[in-house]
Amino acid sequence: MIEIRLNGQRVKVEEGVSVLDASRFYGVHIPTLCFLEGLSPYGGCRLCLVEIGKPGQSKLVTSCTYKVEEGLVVRTQSERVIKRRQMLLELYLATCPSSKIIQDLASKHHVTQVRFQPRHEDCILCGLCVRMCKEQMQGKAINFAHRGTERAVCTPFDKKSEECRLCGGCMYVCPACQARCQGPGAEEAICNACLNLPQPCLEHFDNAMCYMDPCVACELESKREHDVKGGKKA
Ligand code: FES
Repeated sequence: MIEIRLNGQRVKVEEGVSVLDASRFYGVHIPTLCFLEGLSPYGGCRLCLVEIGKPGQSKLVTSCTYKVEEGLVVRTQSERVIKRRQMLLELYLATCPSSKIIQDLASKHHVTQVRFQPRHEDCILCGLCVRMCKEQMQGKAINFAHRGTERAVCTPFDKKSEECRLCGGCMYVCPACQARCQGPGAEEAICNACLNLPQPCLEHFDNAMCYMDPCVACELESKREHDVKGGKKA
């Protein structure tokens, strides 16, 4: 065990764990978008930023990838951290204005405006789908391609991959297309009060990396409608 200083408190943590894991162990909340237990940390969204080091010599690091070390000073709620986090959430909101997960996070972190042009993308390049496919599903059906502004998640040569087993794992973990808010004013409002909605259907997201054909969500929905019309209980 080693000792670190977490938000001013001296705490013992296991050597080799990440700052995020250590903080969570002590009940300190750090928001994340590209981190999921069971998948390797990627450090892509930078939402889990924390400030480490003494004042005047401190720096921001991603807590999901940074390992604790003896005597490390960590601040998870400093002014610098809060401002950077809010800026990132504004950028994510502009990228995917109606993502419920991003809206919820933004609202929770007191983001009240978005100063960037909405881009209405279906992807924030968090890489969760890529890691889910590769590490949990042993699929390797999708990966990152291109660089800079062209960077995107796609299948090899943008063709339906033979490796894809239509498990839907990529869509299940996607923060941009999962449970997208469809409520009134969804694009302008920043709120965390709306209902959880069913998985979006492929027909609305033809650019998303879902190759479920037929789409499982649509099939379930049409079966439910059919049962209701036929007088059966759902
Ligand atoms: S959760 Fe750490 S960078 Fe995304």
